[in-house]
Amino acid sequence: MKRVQTIAELRRALEPARLEGMSVGLVPTMGALHAGHVALLQAARAENDVVVATVFVNPAQFSETSDLAAYPRDLEADARAAEAAGTDVLFAPDAAELYPPGFATWIEPKGAAEGLEGTQRPGHFRGVATVCVKLFSLVHPARAYFGRKDAQQVAVVRQVVRDLNLELEIRTVETVRDPDGLALSSRNVRLSPAERTVALAIPRALATGDPAAGRAVLRDAGIEPEYLEVADLDGPTLVVAAQVGATRLIDNTPLRRIV
Ligand code: PAF
Repeated sequence: MKRVQTIAELRRALEPARLEGMSVGLVPTMGALHAGHVALLQAARAENDVVVATVFVNPAQFSETSDLAAYPRDLEADARAAEAAGTDVLFAPDAAELYPPGFATWIEPKGAAEGLEGTQRPGHFRGVATVCVKLFSLVHPARAYFGRKDAQQVAVVRQVVRDLNLELEIRTVETVRDPDGLALSSRNVRLSPAERTVALAIPRALATGDPAAGRAVLRDAGIEPEYLEVADLDGPTLVVAAQVGATRLIDNTPLRRIV
């Protein structure tokens, strides 16, 4: 696996694949790789000649500076996990590489970016859309891979690809859960054991398949969700966001599977 930090190094690393017309699969991440990311990398490995993973904690998608500062970072562990999952090129730029002084061009998605995370985290999807378009334009992937846990993010990225006529396919990979049902998230490492037990009410609430019943489950666990509602995200989906201690968690379940 080649590790690159700059755009120039990335372009050099991908030049042979470009010249030989090889297909490239892109897995954009913010690092702190877990089994959910490994599933994305494995899906990319199965469908492409070359797999590129990116590790970039994108400051533009954080509205709270404390959340950005607390985001877990361990590039050496990420490099080991990416390599073990079959990654060919790992691109881990610093913020100034993607947002140099004078950077002033943003993608402002509406539509799928409105409501839910778009309401709770103003500017979040502007940051996500902008960094994704930059990564697509740098890597020229045939396919890019995203986890269903961030279902609204998938809808926003699909909308951006459609509206800007970008030539790549967006692939969605199922949410990976711990045996106790908690959806894997890089933020889970910030939960204390007691908070983790409380957080298990989130998958239990989703399993009810009903916002009112789900709210009751969360209330019993002492959780007041930011939202728990049915949204149309590639079909009717029960979506939830809730703060457990200092950690914000999101999760969802497609309703067609449980009704
Ligand atoms: O889902 C994430 O980790 C991020 O939002 C992404 C897609 C890597 C963009 O920074």
